[in-house]
Amino acid sequence: MLRTFAAHKLRELAEGASVPVINGLTDHSHPCQVMADVMTVEERLGSLSGKTVVWCGDGGDNVLTSWMHIAVAFDFNLRVICPPEFPPEPEVLRNTQKNGGRVTVTADLDAVKDANIVMTDCWVSMHNSDAGVRQQRLLPYQVDAAVMRRASPKAIFMHCLPAHRGEEVTDEVLDGPQSVVFDEAENRLHVQKAIICWCLGIEGPK
Ligand code: NVA
Repeated sequence: MLRTFAAHKLRELAEGASVPVINGLTDHSHPCQVMADVMTVEERLGSLSGKTVVWCGDGGDNVLTSWMHIAVAFDFNLRVICPPEFPPEPEVLRNTQKNGGRVTVTADLDAVKDANIVMTDCWVSMHNSDAGVRQQRLLPYQVDAAVMRRASPKAIFMHCLPAHRGEEVTDEVLDGPQSVVFDEAENRLHVQKAIICWCLGIEGPK
């Protein structure tokens, strides 16, 4: 398992490896996280099928990119709310839409309406060096109680953690009754065990 920055390092390792290589995170994508996220949605809300997932914040975030990747495999709507300066990766968005993924992008917070899942991530990821500009431009997209009130009343709030309290999410939401962030963190463990089983070709626990 490699957790790194540039995605090409992962590809190079995989090309030279005689064993499976797991993407533990790159500055481009974070598939292990998204598998844990899907498990958490299923535990809390049942099937992801037909649900509306709203991402609010940095459109270039690696967790969001992996959510766009899975939008072609699962049946859900993904609405990305982000400032125009920080859009989703154009090629990933294009490919997802071309292959039937239901992803829309807007700067309008009204798109939170009827969301079943509201999700965000830190504004300054490990590879970002423009912290000041990001914090300033992303502030209107902070997930606070007012944003959660616009979602479905039973909506859950998700975040891969670590969260930056008072930046992308307020304490009230992170610690509030709709937040499932600690189940989500726990599910990393269970899903990652399943990935190892899959790589080894053995059946995991039921
Ligand atoms: N977007 C974050 C995810 C951390 C788990 C980062 O890359 O730093």
